[in-house]
Amino acid sequence: MLPTPNLDHLSSKDYEQIYEPSEDTFLLLDALESEITFIKNEINPCICLEIGSGSGCVSTFLGQLLGNNSTVLFCTDINPNATSITVETGRRNSIYLDSITTNLTSGLLPRLYHSVDILCCNPPYAVTPHEDIYSKNIIEKAWAGGINGREVIDMILPLANDLLSDNGTFYLLVISDNKPDEIREKMWKQYQFHSEVVISRLAGREKLIILKFRRNGRNIND
Ligand SMILES: C[S@@+](CC[C@H](N)C(=O)[O-])C[C@H]1O[C@@H](n2cnc3c(N)ncnc32)[C@H](O)[C@@H]1O
Repeated sequence: MLPTPNLDHLSSKDYEQIYEPSEDTFLLLDALESEITFIKNEINPCICLEIGSGSGCVSTFLGQLLGNNSTVLFCTDINPNATSITVETGRRNSIYLDSITTNLTSGLLPRLYHSVDILCCNPPYAVTPHEDIYSKNIIEKAWAGGINGREVIDMILPLANDLLSDNGTFYLLVISDNKPDEIREKMWKQYQFHSEVVISRLAGREKLIILKFRRNGRNIND
């Protein structure tokens, strides 16, 4: 098992500015680790993209799992503090991350159209009033997902269709309140993406789930 990236350079002061890695982050790490043989053998990714990288922990870990210098690791975050800390986390762990401050993937399309081999995202998923997704508080923005916690997720789903390469795979963290079955059905009906649950875990009253989507594949555990 690969250890979690070293985050010793981050203090409680930093976590007032960016999302602190939590149970959801660690579940995404576990999912990527459990998938690494598939990722290396079946996808052999050239381009990875994480939407909402926060501390950079997830993309750094993915870079370490891949263990090569030939995969480009792009990260985006709407929070400029997260963008710079993402680069620093990568650097401290000898992983080069190309980190961009932007809303979701603005500016990356159309250049990365159908080019991303691994897309991953731990989005703002908490159920909140609609207006909270526009909060000026950057930490609130990190977790506020609006109605059913789905408002940001629903903006990301069509981007996955635009971004993923033919053999690409999308790993998305959701909670049960986000209605994961509905998300899977939507991805199937609108974009013919096959899906499966990679891993799930209870964290307090929340059930955290990692969904995996592929253009080519088959639906598992429907
Ligand atoms: C739940 S946190 C996850 C952070 C990190 N990936 C992790 O797993 O620890 C969600 C992240 O998405 C970012 N975010 C929220 N809305 C965004 C948007 N519209 N575009 C880009 N990033 C966004 C937040 O700033 C935050 O860093």
